[in-house]
Amino acid sequence: MPGTIPNKYNVISVDITGNCNLRCPFCVNDFSNIHGNIFMSQEIFEKSLTLLPLIRKGGVFRISCIFEPSIHPRFIELIRSIPATSDVNIYYTTNLARPMSDEFFHELSNSNITFINISLDSFIPEVFETLRRGARHKNFIDNLERMVAIFSKHPNPPGLRYITVLSKANLSEVSSLIKTTKEKYLAEQHEFRSFWLRQGQDEEWVKENDISWSDLLEVEKVLKNQPYKYFFRPFENPEDFLEKSTDNQYEQIVYSQPSPLELSIFSDGKVILERTPVDVEFSLKELNQPHPFFENILRLHALDIERAKELSRIRQETSNYKYLQLDNETQLSKLEKRSEETRYWIDSLNINETKQTGDRNNPKTINIGGWAVDSIAENLAFGVNVVIDNKIFNAFYGLARDDVAIALKSYIYRNSGFSTNIPVSEIGPGTHHLSLVILTLNKKSYYVTKKIQFEVQ
Ligand SMILES: C[S@@+](CC[C@H](N)C(=O)[O-])C[C@H]1O[C@@H](n2cnc3c(N)ncnc32)[C@H](O)[C@@H]1O
Ligand code: SF4
Repeated sequence: MPGTIPNKYNVISVDITGNCNLRCPFCVNDFSNIHGNIFMSQEIFEKSLTLLPLIRKGGVFRISCIFEPSIHPRFIELIRSIPATSDVNIYYTTNLARPMSDEFFHELSNSNITFINISLDSFIPEVFETLRRGARHKNFIDNLERMVAIFSKHPNPPGLRYITVLSKANLSEVSSLIKTTKEKYLAEQHEFRSFWLRQGQDEEWVKENDISWSDLLEVEKVLKNQPYKYFFRPFENPEDFLEKSTDNQYEQIVYSQPSPLELSIFSDGKVILERTPVDVEFSLKELNQPHPFFENILRLHALDIERAKELSRIRQETSNYKYLQLDNETQLSKLEKRSEETRYWIDSLNINETKQTGDRNNPKTINIGGWAVDSIAENLAFGVNVVIDNKIFNAFYGLARDDVAIALKSYIYRNSGFSTNIPVSEIGPGTHHLSLVILTLNKKSYYVTKKIQFEVQ
């Protein structure tokens, strides 16, 4: 079926702490706005773990990607509660700065963590300590050496990966960093990245340490000429992601830059969904059964992302697209009548009194609403018309019907709703018969639905 909705998260991020023990000058966090620390409770962490089955095979469950997870006073207890899973990559990123015991590393080697990212910007003590402000090089190296020694003796420890944030201060160390992590420190991957700028960063430091394009090209050359596996992430310019569009700002955010199929859980249990048509905020604390709740949220979230993609595709492909409406029976006679049935539903057939659409002398209108698709094309229909007795009335087609898309398991059907208001004066009182004429997507034929009978007083 075309356009099946993805039904799993790519990433779930769980921040188990809300602060850090260091103050690196390049850090993405603006610590002037961050006060105190909230450590995630065991209960909230375990609730987050119930969401593991909602992550796609090969997806990611990461524990604190923004702050420092190892400062959680019950870190090991949290790690112990992670179940074995071969489908999802479970990892955390750490500065490895706090003194850590051998017992701690033994626990880690027995854990169900897939890999650990270790931030490593320099092996030179003075450089290390200016980049990792607040850390002691001696403690870091001591942790690293013991961790590697313990992991080396274990049959199935978490993998070790390294992240180096590039700055003028460590450019000359690139080849020795990658060689050493691979040869001495069990590196299964080493990432080199430039730092993202943010407002409020130490300006002096940035001026002295920010690297240029030619520096980056040089780093890339060095990396290409050495034998070890690396991952290179040069500058990312957020402007590049902004699609030039005529939409208003809200639509641009929601449809042109839909939120990724990810979930972030803060250390106090808060979950914020942004860049969706319904931005919501709620807490895991209040949810006794997070799994079914998030399963539903996930469906809607996935639908929005697919809708965004579909909208931009339709905009590009069919900028001159117009819905065909049947004005009279003559037009219908030019099209082929299909013998097959298509999927549709009439969910309202009401008589209302409204002065806006009705006749002045008889303000009653019949509202008919529902949804319809082109089952043969496995797509939306081209349009819907309502036939009452022998008269044809146009209906507005294209209304949002998330429920239909979910039920039929394809976002393609999201705009399959129709509605029309017909003045009662057009048909008069008595017994009437109603059917729908549903135009196929290619406009060459139409389906006719079974007649239903209704009375008008
Ligand atoms: C935000 S930290 C959180 C984990 C932990 N505190 C640490 O530093 O390892 C996650 C990773 O992002 C890197 N990082 C921090 N600030 C960055 C920036 N401005 N640009 C790119 N990476 C950054 C860190 O070096 C670390 O490898
Ligand atoms: S250790 Fe990580 S979170 Fe802490 S200041 Fe440094 S980069 Fe930021």
